[in-house]
Amino acid sequence: MEAIKFDFNNLFSASIGVHGVSQQDIDEILPEARLCAGHLKKIIANPQARIKLGLQWAVLFEQDKEEIAKIYKLGKEISGKYENVVFLGIGGSYLGLKAAQDALCAPYYNEFKPLRKKSPRIYLEGNNLDPDTLQVLLKNLKPKQTFVIVISKSGETTEPKAAFALVEAWLKKGVGKKYGRQILAITDPQSGALRAKVEREQKKDALSFRALPILKGVGGRFSEFNMGLIHLAIVGVNIRELFAGVKEMFNRCSQDDILKNPAYMYALLHTILYRKKAKSLAILMPFSQTLKSTADWYVQLLAESLGKKYHRKVEVGIDGVENWLADKESLFSKGRTPISAAGTNDLHSIQQNNVEGEDNKVLTFIRVEKFRTDLKIPGKGDLLSGKSFSSLMHLAQEATEWALASEGRPNCTIIMPKVSAYNWGALLFFFEMATAFEGELLNINAFDQPGVEGYKNYMYYKLGKPGISQEIASEITSHPLVKNPKYIL
Ligand code: PA5
Repeated sequence: MEAIKFDFNNLFSASIGVHGVSQQDIDEILPEARLCAGHLKKIIANPQARIKLGLQWAVLFEQDKEEIAKIYKLGKEISGKYENVVFLGIGGSYLGLKAAQDALCAPYYNEFKPLRKKSPRIYLEGNNLDPDTLQVLLKNLKPKQTFVIVISKSGETTEPKAAFALVEAWLKKGVGKKYGRQILAITDPQSGALRAKVEREQKKDALSFRALPILKGVGGRFSEFNMGLIHLAIVGVNIRELFAGVKEMFNRCSQDDILKNPAYMYALLHTILYRKKAKSLAILMPFSQTLKSTADWYVQLLAESLGKKYHRKVEVGIDGVENWLADKESLFSKGRTPISAAGTNDLHSIQQNNVEGEDNKVLTFIRVEKFRTDLKIPGKGDLLSGKSFSSLMHLAQEATEWALASEGRPNCTIIMPKVSAYNWGALLFFFEMATAFEGELLNINAFDQPGVEGYKNYMYYKLGKPGISQEIASEITSHPLVKNPKYIL
């Protein structure tokens, strides 16, 4: 299987001048980077540390073969029986599925039966509180022909919880007493409201509310190779091929030589550009429509992992395993801001700003060498006649690189031989490792998301959720939203 390549040329000063990385920059950061690489390696090699600190995602490709076989079996059963599958989830419990659906299934999959082969239509809901989309879906789907998969690691998140309450009532009404047999819950193996609901329902009917675990030490945004497997099985993606790609990338990203390790190099070069050249925006621009949602997945990965208020304080527990705390005496309040885009559409949008606007960005392109199909432009005598779409896409990508490099603006290219399960798995894993390593370089905890709690706590407080701490309540009451009518026009 041909592997993904990484072209970092246009991040270096030799290609783009003063805004690029110099050999001296690399030499300066290498000792620190080696320590970080050693630290990360030590944690990944230790099962207890991996689970405690949230790095279990790094070894998901080694999952038990019997578990995978069970997932395939369940996927086949669902595919064989139902016309529609509705997934409910948000954040990490949604973006990986959407990215996989768009990258690994045919475009217009839901619209055309031959494209789906024997698989059901897929709908992704519960990722918003907008009533309009779910309303339309439930009015148009037939409950008896619909299987529902609710995904929430915590089992408490408002969006999927609200959507599930509605979908559950809809199923119950349309299917009757045994409606629970059309529900699968993917959640924490032990805790949370969803897990408790599974246990209650299974006591009433052992065949209802079947469940799969989101494994300990796997955070939402790192969970595609865990919670996403049932979706892949339902739509007929080869999970073994996907894991072979992940494994290949794991091996490449475990190399001690930082200069040969693609994920470490990517993170290191971006860190230099962030620290020394003030490049705080990270734009991911795949030149493939099917990878646009993968760029959306990456936005969550980078934003939630690296945008942190405090540095990390590392303590070693009595069990010898590290404990990471937010160091409230060491303010960070940084983290590169990710933006998702797509070539060639966004060449007629954000690209103007990329080339001539504020010089604060690094672009990462994804170039797909071989598309699944191709089209030739008919006719004679026109500049475009006889050209293939894929050759124009490649030229557009090369032209975009040139336009940026000639303005001295940093960019790099990930070269994907094709969008296959193998390469897509490798791509996701590459970004996960790069993000983990960047977290090390920044000395922050890349595996929590305390900033997301702010809005949740405010909502819970206003909704009167029991158990809100006094500290949170007084924080909300002492800093109310102030609305001066003068500024509302
Ligand atoms: O990365 C994360 O952990 C979060 O973004 C979660 O995925 C998101 O908040 C959804 O949480 P849950 O799966 O618990 O409903």
